[in-house]
Amino acid sequence: MKRVASAILPIIAIDRKASKALHRQIYDSYRAAIVDGRLRPGQRIPSTRVLASEIGVSRFPVLNAYAQLLAEGYFESRVGAGTVVSKSLPEQLTSSEPPDTPRSATRSGTRAVAKRAPILPGIEAMPWMLNWGAFRVGQVAFDQFPLHIWSVLVTRRCRGMDAQSAHYGNLMGSVALREAIANYVKIARSVRCEAEQVMIVNGSQQALEIATRALLDSGSRVWVEEPGYRLARDVFAMNGCHLVPVPVDAEGLDVAAGIKKCRKAQAVFVTPSHQFPLGVTMSASRRLQLVDWAQHSGSWIIEDDYDSEYRYESLPIASLQGLDANSRVIYAGTFSKVLFPSLRLGYLVIPPDLVDRFHMCRRVMDLGPPTFTQEVLADFIEEGHFARHIRRMRVLYGELRRVLVDKLTQDLGSMVEVVGDEAGMHLAVMLQNGHCDIEVAKRAVRQNLSLWPLSPSYLGEARQGLILGFGATTMKEIPGAVRRLRNLLTTK
Ligand SMILES: Cc1ncc(COP(=O)(O)O)c(C=O)c1O
Repeated sequence: MKRVASAILPIIAIDRKASKALHRQIYDSYRAAIVDGRLRPGQRIPSTRVLASEIGVSRFPVLNAYAQLLAEGYFESRVGAGTVVSKSLPEQLTSSEPPDTPRSATRSGTRAVAKRAPILPGIEAMPWMLNWGAFRVGQVAFDQFPLHIWSVLVTRRCRGMDAQSAHYGNLMGSVALREAIANYVKIARSVRCEAEQVMIVNGSQQALEIATRALLDSGSRVWVEEPGYRLARDVFAMNGCHLVPVPVDAEGLDVAAGIKKCRKAQAVFVTPSHQFPLGVTMSASRRLQLVDWAQHSGSWIIEDDYDSEYRYESLPIASLQGLDANSRVIYAGTFSKVLFPSLRLGYLVIPPDLVDRFHMCRRVMDLGPPTFTQEVLADFIEEGHFARHIRRMRVLYGELRRVLVDKLTQDLGSMVEVVGDEAGMHLAVMLQNGHCDIEVAKRAVRQNLSLWPLSPSYLGEARQGLILGFGATTMKEIPGAVRRLRNLLTTK
């Protein structure tokens, strides 16, 4: 029920049912009235007793609100003269608009913003990103995650918390997690690494930002895969780098084409184990060519190894970092695919001579990753749950991919061409019949399908296709979802 102190000033709106405290409501009403110009400097304010009785509340909240307004300089009070709106408030900084004028949506004055910050398309322009239907890219089968074990580890760590663990942690990340990761990537990914080189980050996205700040300048030329991972491109572009799109074919990044376009680039960004979005694996000869080019041109290789744990026809492919004897590779890994993305934990393996530089760049971005989650994750890895989870998920995702490819081949036939290796949690299909992928993706949302169009992954001339995630799409859902996709492709 709203009551208004109409006999004094028509500004104090009190709502007793609101969750906001009464003193805060009184304070906010006065402050808004002063900033809007409804109360002018020097204007008298009723006493706390009068206002309390007028709006029907006890004096305590009114006293509290007045004390705050006096402390912040909105009110002033003099003995014998009562309380007034502070006379020192500059008239021109309080609005003279009549009280009921709605606030203008535009603002006056120069509003200069950074020139290099590109205008990225808003999420509304990409309705597939907001849809939770079948084939959503990047979504994991969370119902298979051993939440009961995770909860036990969380509770145990929580009980053991003390003042030291509540303080800032190590800027490079918790020692236990860095050691667990170093052991894991050495064995599972053939990465050359000691725990001192591992930096825990807030996902590979932050890894890229730190690497860019540590290694590149505005104007630096960076090879990026064409088509490639848009969120990586955005990091380089935001930092003023000049992007050089290098084509990807069945063997991965075409190194010779890159050299022809721009021999002297400061860095290259690659996803060699499972190219995003086409899903191809970089051949051994291309890997050797890339490492050789980097050594001769003094370039850095930024390797994004985001889902290489999942390979279904062979053992996981060894990392590019492990091939390089000259410490030119900055290796980024993430737990977003192997565990779940909201964990926001990933890692960098940094060449030993660059660790201090990366450390400094990270310090200006945040003061380290959250200690608690890192400790829980270190326990999860050390106690064997991580390796067990990966083994189980490899079987499940492999099966999902097989069923999906069979269904696509059966139901869509020559309408699409499935590309990429048997790996990861997504695959790409090329559209054959002159369809526009963005249009298809928009229409798909109405069919409860979350399809990413392929064309925005290109910087130059684009091919039309769709990226389909299968991590969280169940066996049962696949036949119906593929049927809906066929209907979309047979109607325009
Ligand atoms: C190519 C690529 N790299 C990295 C990631 C993961 O990023 P993050 O670790 O920041 O969640 C993704 C997620 O979809 C990806 O597609």
